[in-house]
Amino acid sequence: VMGATDGAAPREGWSSRTAFILAAIGSAVGLGNLWRFPAEAGENGGGAFVLFYILCVALIGLPVLLSETLIGRHGQASAPESVRRVALESGASKHWSVLAGMGVTAAFLILSFYCVVGGWVLYYIGVFVSDLFQTGLTGGAFQGRPASDIESLLPSLFGNGGLMVGLDFAFLAVTLYFVARGVSGGIEWVATWLMPAFFALLILITIYGFATGAASETVAYLFTFDFSKLTPEVMLAAVGQAFFSLSLGVAGMITYGAYAGKDVNLGKTSGIIASADTAVALIAGLCIFPIVFAAGLSVSAGPGLMFQSLPVAFQNMPFGSLIGVAFFVMVAFAALTSSVALLEVPTAWTMERFAIGRMPSAIIVAIGAAILGALSALSFNEMADFRPLGFIPTFAEANFFDALDGVTAKLFMPIGAILTCVFVGWIADTRLIDSENGLDGALHKLWRFLVRFLCPLALIAILVVGLSS
Ligand code: PFF
Repeated sequence: VMGATDGAAPREGWSSRTAFILAAIGSAVGLGNLWRFPAEAGENGGGAFVLFYILCVALIGLPVLLSETLIGRHGQASAPESVRRVALESGASKHWSVLAGMGVTAAFLILSFYCVVGGWVLYYIGVFVSDLFQTGLTGGAFQGRPASDIESLLPSLFGNGGLMVGLDFAFLAVTLYFVARGVSGGIEWVATWLMPAFFALLILITIYGFATGAASETVAYLFTFDFSKLTPEVMLAAVGQAFFSLSLGVAGMITYGAYAGKDVNLGKTSGIIASADTAVALIAGLCIFPIVFAAGLSVSAGPGLMFQSLPVAFQNMPFGSLIGVAFFVMVAFAALTSSVALLEVPTAWTMERFAIGRMPSAIIVAIGAAILGALSALSFNEMADFRPLGFIPTFAEANFFDALDGVTAKLFMPIGAILTCVFVGWIADTRLIDSENGLDGALHKLWRFLVRFLCPLALIAILVVGLSS
C-alpha cells in the first residue's frame, strides 16, 4: 500500500544498518581478496607489497570509499542520477554525472568477465566433489595422480570453450536470480547468509592451514618489509589492487550507498568496510601461503596460485578433497556477493532510465553480460588470436578477456576515482558534504585533505604509469 497514492513504488533500501554493512563488505570481499591479492603479493615480493597495500587502503581507498557512499546516500537514486542531484544542489554542472556513467559501464564490463572466473570456481567445486567420491573422505585429494595432472586441470578447462561458456552462464544466472529479487529480498539475503558462512569457512581453513602447514615461513614472508623490493611497479600493483578490492571507481559504492538510510554514519561504516576487506585479504594470504609453502610450491605462480598450486597442495593433506570442496565453495560465496553488486549497478540505472521494473532491467543487463562473457570465455580457446584493441599499444597483445580487464582496471577505475575526488573535494557544496560524512574534528580535516590532494594526485600517477607500461 505504501506509495500507492502517487502511483510510484517506494524506493528500495536496506532493512537495517547491519544489512548495509554486510552487503558492502560482500561487494568488497571477492575474487579480488582470495585470488588476486595472494597472487599479487606473491608476484610482488611479499611484505613490501603488503605494507604498501595497507597504506593505499588507508590513505587512498578509504577516503574515496567514503566519497562514493556519501554521494549515493545523498542522491538516493541510481549512481549517475545521484551525482547529478548532488551537482545541481551544489550549483555545478549536471554533466558531472558522466563520472558515474563511466562507472556503470565499467561495472557492466567487469561483471561480464568476473562471472567467467566465477565459472572456473564452479568447475573446481565439481572437480573436488567428484574426487571426494573417488578417493574418499580422509585421504588427500587426487590420490595416485601426478601433480602435473592436477596443474593441467585449468589449461584443460581453458581448452573447452563450450564448458567455459556454460559455467559462465551458470554463475551469471545465479547472480541474476538474487538481483531480480530486489535489494532487501535478494541482495541482502545473499549477504546476510553467505558472508557469515564465508567467514566461518575462511577461519576454519586458515586454522587448518596454520596447524598443518608452514606457518612461520608464511608470517615471515608476508610481514617482513624489505623496502628494496618497493619498486614503482610494485606500488602501482598495490594501489590498483586496493581499488579493485574495495570495489571503487565503478559506481558500486555509490549505488549501495543510495540504499542506506540517514541513520548510517558513513565515516564509521566506510572504516568498517575497508578494515574487513583488508582483514580478509590478509587472512586469505595466511590461509593460502602455509599450504603452498608446505607443499614446496612457488609463491609467484600468479593467477595459477589458487587454481593450480593450491589444488596440488590439497593432495598431500588429510581430508584434502573435503578441504578442496570447502575452499572453493567459500570462494564461490565471496564471488557471488561481488557479482551481485556488479549486476546491481547497471540494473539500478536501467530501471530508472527506462522506467521499467527490476526483473526486466536485470534480465536485459544480464543478457548483455552473457554475450560479452561468452566472448571472454572463448578468448581462451576458439578466439585466442583475436586482439580487440590491437590498435592501442598498451593493449595490443590482449585477447578479449585481458582487454576488458585492462581497460577497466587501467582506464575506467582510475578515471572514475579521480573525477569522484575532484567532484567531492572541489565541486560539491561543502555543507552538503559535511552533513553526510559523519566525521568531525581532525579526522574530517584529514579526510578533506586526502580527497582534495593526495588521492587525485596518486590516482593520476597510477593512470599515467599504468597506460605507459
Ligand atoms: N571488490 C570485488 C573483489 O575484490 O573481488 C570486485 C568488485 C566488486 C569490483 C564490485 C567492483 C564492484 F563494484
